[in-house]
Amino acid sequence: MTPLPACETVITTERTILKPLAGSDAAALFAYRSLPAVYRFQTWVPRSIDDARAFILRYAVHPPTDDDDWRQLGIYCRTSEALMGDCGFQILEQRGAEIGYTVAPPRQRQGLGTEVVRGLVGYLFEDRQLARVMARTDPANVASITILEQTGFRREVPGRVTLQTGGEREGDLVFAIQRERWTAQAR
Ligand SMILES: CC(C)(COP(=O)(O)OP(=O)(O)OC[C@H]1O[C@@H](n2cnc3c(N)ncnc32)[C@H](O)[C@@H]1OP(=O)(O)O)[C@@H](O)C(=O)NCCC(=O)NCCS
Repeated sequence: MTPLPACETVITTERTILKPLAGSDAAALFAYRSLPAVYRFQTWVPRSIDDARAFILRYAVHPPTDDDDWRQLGIYCRTSEALMGDCGFQILEQRGAEIGYTVAPPRQRQGLGTEVVRGLVGYLFEDRQLARVMARTDPANVASITILEQTGFRREVPGRVTLQTGGEREGDLVFAIQRERWTAQAR
């Protein structure tokens, strides 16, 4: 697959623009990502604004040219351009991708998480022509599971990832959607 510079990823949804985070977003990203209610279910927690800036530089501003690295996008309000959260994807082998998403608490429970996941999945299937999109989530993360199920993801069997190594957290659930299902839903 042709490498895609992170700066070329721009996805538009009804209320948002998803595009690579900028270094100037570090303080805003730190403000919500450092809240316990947000990092409770996540593996990365910024300890400082500098941590957040390093994350942005690594995954959004200067990601490696390899396609199989995380691309971290900001969720920006279409009208005010305010940062409302962030999301990301990683291209996997066999035409797959993993996604992740975070909505800042003041913006939660307004349907944004669902809108963003639909936008990301549509981009990966329609623009990138992938075959499968997956997401990992903690079994207690009701909001995340609701989003995935409402978007057409299904829990994979056996579902629980119990690897001791390899970066996957024990106990996470794996949800996935195939391109055929996404296309059928859109009809
Ligand atoms: C998960 C998350 C992205 C959801 O974002 P959101 O914008 O609030 O999601 P939505 O408004 O689209 O809500 C989706 C569904 O979850 C439900 N929901 C949202 N927050 C909830 C909560 N705290 N408890 C229970 N249900 C919740 C909503 O009611 C909605 O269901 P409905 O469509 O049947 O009404 C957000 O809570 C978040 O960023 N959490 C912290 C980071 C995280 O866990 N990311 C996911 C890692 S896999």
